Order: sequence, then structure tokens, then C-alpha cells
Amino acid sequence: MMFVVKNLHVWVPRKRGREDEAGKGGGNGNQTGKATEAANAEKEIVHGVSFSLSPGSLSLIMGPNGSGKSSLCNALMGDPAFHAKGSIRLDGAELAGAGPDVRAKKGLFLSFQNPEEVEGVKVSNFMRRAVAAKEGTGRRDVDGGMDALVKSHERLLAEIKKLGMDGKSVTRELNVGFSGGEKKRLELLQMLMLRPKVAVLDEIDSGLDVDGIKLIARTIRTLRNSDRRMAILMVTHYPRILKYLKPDAVHVLAGGRIVRSGTAALAREIEKKGYARYVKADARHAGARALHEQEAE
Ligand SMILES: Nc1ncnc2c1ncn2[C@@H]1O[C@H](COP(=O)(O)OP(=O)(O)OP(=O)(O)O)[C@@H](O)[C@H]1O
Ligand SMILES: [Mg+2]
Repeated sequence: MMFVVKNLHVWVPRKRGREDEAGKGGGNGNQTGKATEAANAEKEIVHGVSFSLSPGSLSLIMGPNGSGKSSLCNALMGDPAFHAKGSIRLDGAELAGAGPDVRAKKGLFLSFQNPEEVEGVKVSNFMRRAVAAKEGTGRRDVDGGMDALVKSHERLLAEIKKLGMDGKSVTRELNVGFSGGEKKRLELLQMLMLRPKVAVLDEIDSGLDVDGIKLIARTIRTLRNSDRRMAILMVTHYPRILKYLKPDAVHVLAGGRIVRSGTAALAREIEKKGYARYVKADARHAGARALHEQEAE
């Protein structure tokens, strides 16, 4: 196994909310302290998830809205907004605790569910710098020699064409004013340019028209054929992508836990029957835990 995640827990800070406001206005020392503490406490979103990816494999994560899929993805990439515990190993090296830049350099890639608009940064510059940073070529590739520059630009144009986008797009600001489907294509463009070892794709197929879905599937297939060691973890809501891609594993994430793992048949079953039974199973878990905690007190 090249990518092994063990017992990963993920927390997010609770939003500073009403409790905090009440605390500020209250003026009662003790109460205020407690309220602030509660408002700042962290909320556990992912409760000990384990899975592994072998070279060349395609795995899906499916699950209801709010089940923790994006939190899991962001924590895998080392987003500092998420606090994580557990082990994330890539080719034997422990990545937990490392920053996103280190993880990217080691070959981990995440495409965002909601790509951010970055004003003042051109697509072409962003891509060139990302590749240079990953390959450790640093400034040599960024501003060293016209040859390198022309070559990398030609490659970028070739890749963006494959994604059915206008070559002129590379002179636009990153994601600024791009349509939902175009943003997803730009995410894929990064993957094509970076050639990661492990690609985590968070809803790369959401918001795309039928042709877009086919294009994404075809791009992933071509990429897998050219690099048979690359592992892909895809978060999706749509088993329709299975028409074009055959996953080796399907995991259902509900309530921050992998409640079931299987093959493509599991995804088809979900399409027919929905998540109700998994959500119920998770609610029973949660009920039992609450009871257990009460008894322990
Ligand atoms: N920064 C945060 N502060 C508070 N709650 C958060 C934060 N980030 C995520 N959450 C909560 O964690 C839960 C899981 O969110 P997450 O985005 O991981 O879900 P998801 O499975 O990706 O859902 P979707 O299918 O809608 O994309 C949600 O209830 C969400 O509101
Ligand atoms: Mg999500």
C-alpha cells in the first residue's frame, strides 16, 4: 500500500457564536469564562477513519451532505483550519503534522469542492509556480531561461486544450469569474500539470454538464493509463461517473465514520436506496455512545 490513513480524527473550531456574544454582554466573570470556553471548543467532525490506497487504484468516498467528506479531504492535505490526529503515510513517510506544501511536494494533491478565486494571480503564473515548487526546481523554472518558460507554457496550453478550454484562459486571474464547470476544469488542469502520486478529488464531478462529466472521466482514465502508479480518491455524490470509471473500492462516510466499504455494487445500491440505512446505523452508534458517556459520568 502506498497511502495509508489510520485512525484519523478531525476537529474544526466552533464558530464564535451566540454563546460568545452572551458571554461578552453578561459581565458575570464565571459565566463569561464558561461561555467563551464553550464557544471556542473544537467540534469533532471525523471520528477515526482508516483506509488505504494501492498504486494505480481508484477509490470512491460517498456519503450524505455534512458527513465529513470535505473535512477529511482538507485534513489529508494538511489544511491548518482543521485539527487532525492520526497517521497519514505516503510511501512509508508520515505526513501527519507536515504542512500542505510538504505534502504537495511528496506527491499529494487535493482538488477543492469550492475552488477559491485568487485575484491578481494569473492561471499561467500559478501553474508554473506550483509545478516549480513541487519539482523543487524553484527559480530556475520560474524565471530561468526562455526555453524552460516556453516549454512549460506550451505544455500548459496543450493540457488546457484537452480540457476543452480556451487557451486564453491561462491569462485570466485564477478562478476569478470562471463558471462552476470551468473552475472544476482548472482543478483538473492542476492535477494534469502536477502529476501527483495520490490525487484526492473532492466532488470534481459536481456542477458539470454531461459532456463535462465524460471529459473528467476521460481525463482521469488517460492520466491513469500514462501513470499506472497514481492512486485516486474521489469524493462523489453521483454514481453516474461509474458509467465511465470503474472503482476498486467504495467507502460510505456517514456521521464522520466509514460505515461500509465495498465495490461498485455498493455505489449502485446507494443510488437505488439512498443513505437512510447508513445514517440510521450511525444514529444508533451515536445513541449508544451518548448513553455510555452518561453512564460513565
Ligand atoms: N469550520 C467549521 N466550523 C463549524 N462546522 C464546520 C466547519 N467545517 C465543517 N463543519 C461542519 O462539519 C460537517 C461536515 O462538513 P463537510 O464539509 O466535511 O461535509 P461533506 O460531507 O463534505 O458535505 P457535502 O456533501 O455537503 O459537501 C458539517 O456539519 C459542517 O457544517
Ligand atoms: Mg463536501
